Amino acid sequence: MTSFPLPPVDRRTVLAGATAAATAYSTGLSAAGLASGADEQTVTLRVNGQTHALKLEERTTLLDALREHIGLTGTKKGCDHGQCGACTVIVNGRRINSCLTLALMHEGDAVTTIEGLAGRDGQHPMQAAFVKHDAFQCGYCTSGQICSSVAMLDEIKAGIPSHVTEDLNAEPKRTPEEVRERMSGNICRCGAYSNILDAINEVSGAV
Ligand code: FES
Ligand code: FES
Repeated sequence: MTSFPLPPVDRRTVLAGATAAATAYSTGLSAAGLASGADEQTVTLRVNGQTHALKLEERTTLLDALREHIGLTGTKKGCDHGQCGACTVIVNGRRINSCLTLALMHEGDAVTTIEGLAGRDGQHPMQAAFVKHDAFQCGYCTSGQICSSVAMLDEIKAGIPSHVTEDLNAEPKRTPEEVRERMSGNICRCGAYSNILDAINEVSGAV
């Protein structure tokens, strides 16, 4: 069998290739994406009752669409990997991590962010309870905590069980254990958990 000599590879070439690959990975671009450029699509989002027609790169997350294209910066980017809950918004009544979903997937969906929770009469009761119970320190997780807790109470009301619901045939109860489990996707680096629980308990009527 004939063997062909491989071209010489020096250390500089290897490092340059590794750096390019790492950059492509960290920016979410495949090699094909780098070569061809990202495509743009139009999407219409209904955010806090207002309609926004946007032209976005296909890879734009809902989080980036809200923050960078609509200017609603109340929704925070923490990990950008679905692990902290800082980006939680409510879509069609259900809470989701907006960093884990593409904006194009939400054509016509009703999105509620922290800016849209307050009514004409002022703060949403959950916002007021967070203030009353001092349920934050730096505040970075707070908009996600509030959106999550509002939708979480609706989930309990709708009878949706969690991993700690003991009787799946009975209505789930708003026990501290249930609330802790259901809010476990929202991380607070400042450790304001006990005050957050107090705020949620007040709104849910558990205190
Ligand atoms: S920023 Fe979305 S879960 Fe952390
Ligand atoms: S208040 Fe600082 S991370 Fe929760």
